[in-house]
Order: sequence, then structure tokens, then C-alpha cells
Amino acid sequence: MSTHAKIYVAGHRGMVGSAIVRALQQQGQTNIVARTHAELDLTDQAAVRNFFSTEKPDQVYLAAAKVGGIHANSTYPAEFIYQNIMMEANIIDAAFRNGVQKLLFLGSSCIYPKLASQPMREDALLTGKLESTNEPYAIAKIAGIKLCESYNRQYGASHGVDYRSVMPTNLYGPGDNYHPENSHVIPALIRRFYEAKVNGAPRVTIWGSGTPRREFLYVDDMAAASVHVMQLPKAIYEQHTQAMLSHINVGFGEDITIHELAEAVRQTVAYQGDITFDTSKPDGTPLKLMDTHRLNDLGWSPKVGLQEGLQHAYQDFLHHHLCA
Ligand SMILES: NC(=O)c1ccc[n+]([C@@H]2O[C@H](COP(=O)([O-])OP(=O)(O)OC[C@H]3O[C@@H](n4cnc5c(N)ncnc54)[C@H](OP(=O)(O)O)[C@@H]3O)[C@@H](O)[C@H]2O)c1
Repeated sequence: MSTHAKIYVAGHRGMVGSAIVRALQQQGQTNIVARTHAELDLTDQAAVRNFFSTEKPDQVYLAAAKVGGIHANSTYPAEFIYQNIMMEANIIDAAFRNGVQKLLFLGSSCIYPKLASQPMREDALLTGKLESTNEPYAIAKIAGIKLCESYNRQYGASHGVDYRSVMPTNLYGPGDNYHPENSHVIPALIRRFYEAKVNGAPRVTIWGSGTPRREFLYVDDMAAASVHVMQLPKAIYEQHTQAMLSHINVGFGEDITIHELAEAVRQTVAYQGDITFDTSKPDGTPLKLMDTHRLNDLGWSPKVGLQEGLQHAYQDFLHHHLCA
């Protein structure tokens, strides 16, 4: 891969976008372009077209999105579907119009049906009803996959368009959101165990039974997988995907119970108190795991285990997020 390619990372200040920038820099890429949300609103079609025609990037990583938890998704469904569809459509079309042949779109495991068989394979897409709380967001993400596939089908042969999609599992690591009410499970646990330690609280109580199993991937592994998929030779990529089933799952490949996760976070934070479970609270789905055979067959597997990843995440929390 040339280190002179001009690479646009959309969402470069987000958790995933910033990890992709780190991965590209480690690879020696020196020509990365980026704009903050304030500099370029990606829902603004004219502004996005203007940016692409001025900058003329060679490649695009599409890691910008409006993201949020269950509460935000249920309260602002219009914003989630509208903004995400607009960002994807604006970027993908402007990329095509300006001769970009290589683009990587980032989706999420929420594209799969609520009752998909586990572990979830890529071909589970569009085989059943989605989880209703984030259906608008998931529909936007499915539209992103289909935008990439449709541009490939219409303009692949004529213009060399080669747009790919990756669907990550739950991610954690530097740059995560540690907001007390609106964060994912790992940052929420880090904050709660840290606060319990500082306040000398005898126990931390966790909602549910602790038995549901979940999968977690360290964000720099996700970035490495993204760069790997982007840089695969076209012939290899096409051997392992289909024109209308082209997305690739990115996961750790193994899951753990919430109880095991809580214990790992407790050790990372060095909290001496107990963990209790409030079984009067709901558990959520018992199992959610990605099938990662497609990615493994393409020559990639994760490197950062949970204990190491949690240490990095905790250090990031201590350095950057305590005042948030
Ligand atoms: N985090 C996870 O566990 C996880 C799991 C699976 C998939 N993913 C996927 O990975 C992608 C990135 O997620 P993330 O966790 O990195 O999210 P994030 O930290 O919130 O980053 C998203 C970035 O997009 C930017 N953005 C949002 N709306 C914009 C707009 N209209 N114009 C310009 N920039 C805009 C945000 O800027 P502002 O903050 O300034 O608005 C932010 O920098 C998403 O597609 C998400 O679905 C994440």
C-alpha cells in the first residue's frame, strides 16, 4: 500500500475514527485528511460535495455516525435515521463523483434480526425483524451496506468502484464515552467500580443476573481489522464475499458473561469490595455473538485480550474522562 495515498477519515475524533487514524499513522500513512463536525456537517450535501471536489481524497473510511444508547435511540428516532442516512448517502455519492475507488463503511451488529441464530453470520442480514428500540438506526446502517453494494454493482466495472463494509461487535478502549447515564457496559462498569473504590463503597450492584453472554473487541483491533479489509486485494475480497452480501463481521470470536466481565473490570480497577446482582432488573437477550469466520478466512484475527484492553481503557479513563 502506497503511503502517499490521500485518505479521508470521516469521524476522526470519534472512538473508532481516532483508532483508525492511529492505525494508519503506525503504517506510515502521512496524507490523512479530516474535518471536525464543526468544520464539515456531513448531513449537508452541498458542503460534502464541495469538500470532496476540493480535497480529492483517494480513499475514505466512513467512521462518522450519530450513535447512542437505548434511551437516545428511543427519544430521537428521527435524528438517528435521518442523520445517518444523509451522512452515508452524501459521502458515498460524493466519493463516487470525485473518483474515489476505495471506501470502507462502518456499520454495527444491530443490523441483524433480533432473533438471529447465534453466532450471527453475515447471511442473517434481512432474514427477520430487527430489535425495535434501534430499528431506525439499524435501517440506516443496512442502507449504508446497500449503498456500497449498489455503487459497486453499477460502477464497479466502469469506474473501478470498490466499496466495502465492516460490522463491528461491541467496542471499548481509548476515546470511549464514560457519561454516567449514557454509556456502554464496559465504560459504565469502569466508572462505577472506580467511584466505588474512591468512595470506599462496600459493594457494586449490577442490573440483572450477570448470566447474559456478550462479546467485546478492543477498538485498536477494530481499526486494524478495518485497515486490513480496506487493503485486501480486490480478487481476494471478491472470493470471500458476494455482490449483494458483501459486509464482513468484526468480532473477538468469543463471548463472556456479564459476571465475568464485571470481575475483570473489578480487578483492573483494583476495587476490593463485592459485586452483587439485582435479579429484579431485566437481563436482555441471553446471547449475542458475531460469527467471524469470513474475516478469519481473510487472514485477520484480534490481538488484544480483555485484560490488556481493559488496562488501556482504564488508563485512558483516568487521564481523560474523570472530569466528564
Ligand atoms: N462504539 C461501539 O461500541 C461501536 C460498536 C459497533 C459499531 N460502531 C460503529 O462505529 C462507528 C463509529 O462509532 P464511534 O463509537 O466511534 O462513535 P463516536 O465516538 O460518537 O464518533 C462518531 C463521530 O462522528 C462524528 N459525527 C456525527 N455526526 C456528524 C455530522 N453530522 N457531521 C460530521 N461529523 C459527525 C462525531 O462528531 P461529534 O461528536 O462532534 O458530533 C464523532 O466524532 C459508527 O458507525 C458506529 O455504529 C461502534
